Formats: sequence, structure tokens, C-alpha cells
Amino acid sequence: MPDRPTDWDATAYDRVADPQEEWGREVLERLDLRGDETVLDAGCGSGRVTRLLAERLPRGRLIAIDASASMVAMARQALADSPCRSVHVLEADLGSLELAERVDAVFSNATFHWLLNHTSLFERLAAVLIPGGRLEAQWGGEGNVAEFTRAVESLLGDERFAPYMRNATRPWNFASIADTEDRLRVAGFEVDRIWTEDRPVTPADPQAYLRAVGFGSVLRDVPAEVADRFVAAVTGSMTQPLVLDYVRINVSAGRL
Ligand SMILES: C[S@@+](CC[C@H](N)C(=O)[O-])C[C@H]1O[C@@H](n2cnc3c(N)ncnc32)[C@H](O)[C@@H]1O
Repeated sequence: MPDRPTDWDATAYDRVADPQEEWGREVLERLDLRGDETVLDAGCGSGRVTRLLAERLPRGRLIAIDASASMVAMARQALADSPCRSVHVLEADLGSLELAERVDAVFSNATFHWLLNHTSLFERLAAVLIPGGRLEAQWGGEGNVAEFTRAVESLLGDERFAPYMRNATRPWNFASIADTEDRLRVAGFEVDRIWTEDRPVTPADPQAYLRAVGFGSVLRDVPAEVADRFVAAVTGSMTQPLVLDYVRINVSAGRL
């Protein structure tokens, strides 16, 4: 597992992840399924979107993987009465993914920007897919939440926070279309379509949202009162009312 903390606050995430569910539904619509396939959800989180994928696989198999123990526990609950014939939710790092069986398709939503090495991520995904298998994914692309990342970086050196922030330096990998396409090809994918879209989000409670989603697991080993003050300082330094300038990168690809 990576050196950085991997656990999220699954309850807090699940409460505010409406934008992620909306985006995930759209990625799911791109996945052409008969209903009897084996599909991997790479980074299932609390299971809000995985449950929708399970409904598309009544005669199939669903493998859901996440590196966060609390997310895995919540996803297991979310999928407990799933209509899918076979569901396995596993705690594992996608960066060193190995599966006992190959899958027909990989679905992923709002996850890949949390892995710093996309070369090895795409290699691992290619290794678990059958030839001709599909990859339908969306995550944070180049320029994603730029005002937020600038605000974080400008506060990392602040003496109130610096001693606690060793894991907060560039935890995100918001890669460009060109780099992503190259890496996918090298890993053995044929890229049918790759594109970005702007998806601005105005959170009802910016601090709660950024703490649970934007920072993910980044502040999990920081004392709670320091983390609260850091999130408040980041939020307060951004343009008000706060709008998160999300840029999503989408990939529709096939395993050669
Ligand atoms: C923003 S959430 C998205 C969850 C879900 N796909 C959704 O749409 O709600 C990102 C998820 O990626 C997971 N993640 C981050 N890095 C990971 C890694 N290296 N391996 C597996 N999961 C990872 C996190 O634990 C978190 O649950």
C-alpha cells in the first residue's frame, strides 16, 4: 500500500457525493452490457455508483476495489442486497492490482487522479482485462479544481500548518489528454475517444465538501483541529461564493 494515508471518511463522503454520482451515471451509460459480464469497479468508494453498476449485471459478476477500509465497509453494505449474481468488494491498491480472474470491462469514476503513477495503473488494468475488454472511466484531468489546488499550495508553507502537511504536497495527478492517451497506448489500449469537460460544482457547505471529497484521505493523519483550520483557511482564501472548477477527463478504450 502507498506511504500516504489511504482511508477516507466514508460517511462524510457518501453524504455529499451527489456530483460524483451524477458523473458516474453518465460514465455507466457509456458501458454497453448484456448483463452477464464480469466487471471491475476500480475505486468504488462508498458504493453509490457501484450499486447502479450492479443493477446492470443481474447474471454477471462485479468486483469492486478500493484502498480505503471505511469505503470498502460502506460499499459492502450498499451492495448487500444487490441484484447482481456475484459481488466481491475488496480492499486493495489499484497501483498493484492483481485479480484471480480476467474481467470483461473496467469502470472507474472519480478515482484515477488519486494515483500518481498512471503508467503502472494502466498496465495493471490492461493485465486484468480480457483482449477486447472495455475501459470506461472518468477522473480529474489537467486543470481540475485549479483554484482549490492553488489555495492549498499557497497555504502548505504557512507556519501554522507546515509541520503537519507532509502528505499534502501534490497528492493529485491531473494528467493531460496527450499524456493519458500515450500512457494508455503503451499499456495496450486502443483509445476510441478521450475528451475533457468542465463540470463546475457549487457545494452547499464548502468546508464539509472539501474536507470529505477534495482532500480525500490527505488530512487523515493530521490532528482534527489542525485539519479543520487548514480547510477553513483554504476555503476562506478562495473566491466567494465558492465554485469548484472541476475538469473531468473521459476515456472510452478497448484492450488490444
Ligand atoms: C472520489 S472517490 C470516488 C468513489 C466512487 N467511484 C464514486 O464515484 O463515488 C475516490 C476513491 O478512490 C479511492 N482510491 C484512491 N486511491 C486509490 C488506490 N490507489 N487504489 C484503490 N482505490 C483508491 C479512494 O479510496 C476513494 O474511495
